[in-house]
Amino acid sequence: MNRRSNAVLGVRGLRKSFSAAGATTVALNGVDLDIEAGSFVSIVGPSGCGKSTLLQIMAGLASATSGDVFHKQSRMHEPPPDVVYVFQQYTRSLFPWKTVERNVAFGLESKGGMSRADVAARTREMIGLVKLTGFERHYPWQLSGGMQQRVAIARALACRPSVLLMDEPFSAVDALTRAGLQELLRSLWREMNLTVVFVTHDVDEGIYLSTRVVALTRAPGTVAIDLPVELRDPRDQIATRALPAYLDYRARLLAQLFADEGLGGPEAA
Ligand SMILES: Nc1ncnc2c1ncn2[C@@H]1O[C@H](COP(=O)(O)OP(=O)(O)O)[C@@H](O)[C@H]1O
Ligand SMILES: [Mg+2]
Repeated sequence: MNRRSNAVLGVRGLRKSFSAAGATTVALNGVDLDIEAGSFVSIVGPSGCGKSTLLQIMAGLASATSGDVFHKQSRMHEPPPDVVYVFQQYTRSLFPWKTVERNVAFGLESKGGMSRADVAARTREMIGLVKLTGFERHYPWQLSGGMQQRVAIARALACRPSVLLMDEPFSAVDALTRAGLQELLRSLWREMNLTVVFVTHDVDEGIYLSTRVVALTRAPGTVAIDLPVELRDPRDQIATRALPAYLDYRARLLAQLFADEGLGGPEAA
């Protein structure tokens, strides 16, 4: 299979197995996927199907058992510097002893090469972009869950990456906070010309956010559906979710996921 020419990340024939306590678990069993520059791709699938494993391999944080992993047109050998990864558990990814400002500046300072004034200016800009101006001197534990996740996003984006990988980043917040974070992420994606790969177990979140939704099968994961999402922009939390096209995407993805679990859908009908 040829690679898409504008792909920033890609995997070919990707297999990943884990050996632990004498048993081998196959997490991914032959995944082909190209992520095109500028796209917003959600990956959905049942728990344990290999979503996190796939994302970690695309970030260069884990190795494939077999198959090829690409960054742009080259084979990936180490985590690419223009790709950042936001973990699911923001409470673990922020430093509790550092203020919002120090957390956001951390990546810039540890990378080096920027003057103190430039670090301060970029930190201020990022805090503004995630709408936390006024909270610079707060500590993570003084903030709500949604605000902490915004700090984690600001820190990840401070070095101006081109690709943002996120693993179920909004699963631990309430529904209203979650909608706010979705809007923020869509606006950052547009304003910063990002490519986003977003893992979620929530089909609705995947469709609403994305230009494309990829559904994996139950473990060992392979690609079950690769669905371009053609919904008008700007999107709206209420109107977009009521469009016939949106409901059609939703029905197709849920039918696949439910059939895979033996919960109805076309197979069981
Ligand atoms: N480090 C690991 N060691 C052993 N097994 C693992 C490891 N990471 C993941 N797995 C297994 O691989 C499969 C896929 O896991 P994961 O990628 O976390 O799935 P998902 O994110 O879709 O829930 C699961 O069966 C899981 O138990
Ligand atoms: Mg996971």
